[in-house]
Amino acid sequence: MKKLIARAHEMRKRAHAPYSNYAVGAAVLTSDGEIIGGCNIESSSYGLTCCAERVALFRAIAEGHSSFKALAVATENGGSLCGACRQVVWDLCGDIPIFITDNKGKIEKASSAKLLPEAFDQNKLK
Ligand code: THU
Repeated sequence: MKKLIARAHEMRKRAHAPYSNYAVGAAVLTSDGEIIGGCNIESSSYGLTCCAERVALFRAIAEGHSSFKALAVATENGGSLCGACRQVVWDLCGDIPIFITDNKGKIEKASSAKLLPEAFDQNKLK
């Protein structure tokens, strides 16, 4: 998990966040042991911004991964995942541990199920 968290922090440096100046890094651990990173990417049309967590997961999927074991998120102040990312993480990863970290070494361990209680998901679409 140390490596996963370190990658999330490295990814913060890649953030494209000229509007909010809030850099977020994320890293997802695949079931075959690879770590894939993402950073937030903002648009001048603010709503088109994509969060670091979704960039990491979409990148992992695009690279051929489909099963995930853990996620790490790095911000300056230990900010948690937004609602949209909670939904996407639940849909793509199920219940996995999520490490939410700040730049002072604080690590909070959460899980997708705890972050999105009573989740809507594919089971409701059957
Ligand atoms: N952001 C993320 O990357 N992940 C989250 O879960 C919360 C918010 C980004 C989006 C935007 O670029 C900046 O943080 C401020 O909202």
